[in-house]
Amino acid sequence: MAEQTLSHLLHEDRRFPPSEQVRAHANGTAELYEQADADFEGFWAARAREYVAWDTDFTQVLDWSDAPFARWFADGRLNASYNCVDRHVEAGNGDRVAIHFVGEPGDTRDITYADLQTKVAQCANALADLGVGTGDVVMIYLPMIPEAAIAMLACARLGAPHSVVFGGFSADALRSRINDAHAKVVVTADAGYRRGKPSALKSAVDEAVSVEGSPISKVLVVNRCDTNVAWDDARDVWWHDAVDGAAGERAPEIVDAEHPLFILYTSGTTGKPKGILHTTGGYLTQAAYTNAVVHDLHPESDVYWCTADIGWVTGHSYVVYGPMANGATQVMYEGTPDSPHQGRWWEICQQYGVTILYTAPTAIRTFMKWGAQIPATYDLSAIRLLGSVGEPINPEAWMWYREHIGGGHAPVVDTWWQTETGGIMISPLPGITSLCPGSAQTAIPGIVADVVDDMAEPVDNGQSGYLVITKPWPAMLRGIWGDPQRYKDTYWARWEHLYFAGDGAKKDEDGNIWVLGRVDDVMNVSGHRLSTSEIESALVSHPAVAEAAVVGASDEMTGQAVAAFVILRAGAGDGRDEASLITELKAHVGKEIGAIAKPKSIMIVSELPKTRSGKIMRRLLRDVAENREVGDVTTLADSSVMDFIKNHIPAKA
Ligand code: WTA
Repeated sequence: MAEQTLSHLLHEDRRFPPSEQVRAHANGTAELYEQADADFEGFWAARAREYVAWDTDFTQVLDWSDAPFARWFADGRLNASYNCVDRHVEAGNGDRVAIHFVGEPGDTRDITYADLQTKVAQCANALADLGVGTGDVVMIYLPMIPEAAIAMLACARLGAPHSVVFGGFSADALRSRINDAHAKVVVTADAGYRRGKPSALKSAVDEAVSVEGSPISKVLVVNRCDTNVAWDDARDVWWHDAVDGAAGERAPEIVDAEHPLFILYTSGTTGKPKGILHTTGGYLTQAAYTNAVVHDLHPESDVYWCTADIGWVTGHSYVVYGPMANGATQVMYEGTPDSPHQGRWWEICQQYGVTILYTAPTAIRTFMKWGAQIPATYDLSAIRLLGSVGEPINPEAWMWYREHIGGGHAPVVDTWWQTETGGIMISPLPGITSLCPGSAQTAIPGIVADVVDDMAEPVDNGQSGYLVITKPWPAMLRGIWGDPQRYKDTYWARWEHLYFAGDGAKKDEDGNIWVLGRVDDVMNVSGHRLSTSEIESALVSHPAVAEAAVVGASDEMTGQAVAAFVILRAGAGDGRDEASLITELKAHVGKEIGAIAKPKSIMIVSELPKTRSGKIMRRLLRDVAENREVGDVTTLADSSVMDFIKNHIPAKA
């Protein structure tokens, strides 16, 4: 019953077949799907040799004998930093710009691949002098500056796994990650710029490491903002002394394909953050391959910009390893989209002639809220491909993105993947797929995904269930650092040999996969299963709404009730009576989806509680909707948002 209801809810008939121009240019081909179907391991072996330079070629492709612990290309040997830097210089592309850096205060730096080679070698030498050897974990806690990428690549050069912690995390969060990873050295900066002001980092490191038994022996500090910092002569070292003074050559440490490349902490449903482990050969293969075929990257002509911070997996795979393995030219921006003005991103796109933009739906909806007149004043004509990642993109946001940023012609690729998957898994391919707004559509060549029911049976088209990956893939996590049991329990326990992604999904009538959000965000209203993102989409499709968040609030009568929080578009609420607007929005959802999905309550707010990575914290909204004390707000980008929302609870209906 519940499943049937849902099957009638999501309707999207618009399709955008690739234009001749996009098709003619695209790296992706229909043959890739055929090859992968015909010979799974042969397909991946070919990708590994196409996108990665091996010091010692591999003879084995996949070893799944110890499932769910996979080994890919296990007897191959390579170095990731050689792949991301040196080989481009050797190929004669040393003069190509690797990074167009744009700092928040407006300072800029262009770094070529030849420059990068020197800087990475210098940083590797400095880290080695600080005692870092192969296998030692290095913590990186930096703003979005080139030194972040350089430090990551320097670690890779030494075979020392890095663990990047987003600069917005607190000292406590940093400490628990340092301790869990047994890191030896931290690379940080005095501070980073945030909306025109330095935001301290070094002080958080001091707090995180000045505890009995901290495994950290050295802290390498970039002077980014020239702020005053406390200094421990025995422990702290300036980057400009240690790195800039070091020799500009260092041979890359050749490691096994399964050597750890990085650990990245991500939050689980409960308990402490999980250290997701990624290794070298398979990860690099998938990062580079997906970046080439999904973003349709042509390194010799594109200017690519992935707006993710290096602290998240998107920054790892699609700022550092994917694009750099491909030898791309990219933009790196330190600041926020509205600093110093709301056209900042478009100004940067215009200035550097950005051709490929990869960002998150939350940003797109923010730009919708600010209005199309802002990007319209910039020349975005170079943009030819747009990507979306991190959460479901509402069809209306997808349409807006294509129309107002993509000039009405740029394909939008909605890419589903996770910290755990390491690289893109489900996405249309430009030039091949007929695009369907709001859907990530189908697994890319080489990935086998499905939507299954409780019994692990694939659901029919039009039905919903759980998103699973049915075959191992090269960039899959190799485990949770120090906790093999948790790895098995979290991802492989629900059904044997199926990777449980934790997301709900549905197949539409054409078999396109719609990722509906985490299964913990799925609501059950009167026994009907409803997706928060689907109702959000409906709300956002109303002309007055810029952004919406929906939660399932427990309800005595119906199990759960739909509670919505909406931000209006600029001017949309002017002269309107709030109550009548709310009635209209409820009716709109009823019209778009069905009476069952009508929110029981709608609250008009000016901001939504978001994590620093831009994810809406529905847990907190649920607390408000259920009239509870609001829980832990420490991971919010702006904790005052909750005070505002709490104080504006409308009278209970
Ligand atoms: C969600 C980010 C819908 C999903 C790369 C997943 C998406 C979680 C999409 C992973 C998408 C990511 N459509 N949902 N295109 N991409 N998600 O680990 O719930 O930060 O499980 O990785 O984000 O988030 P993570």
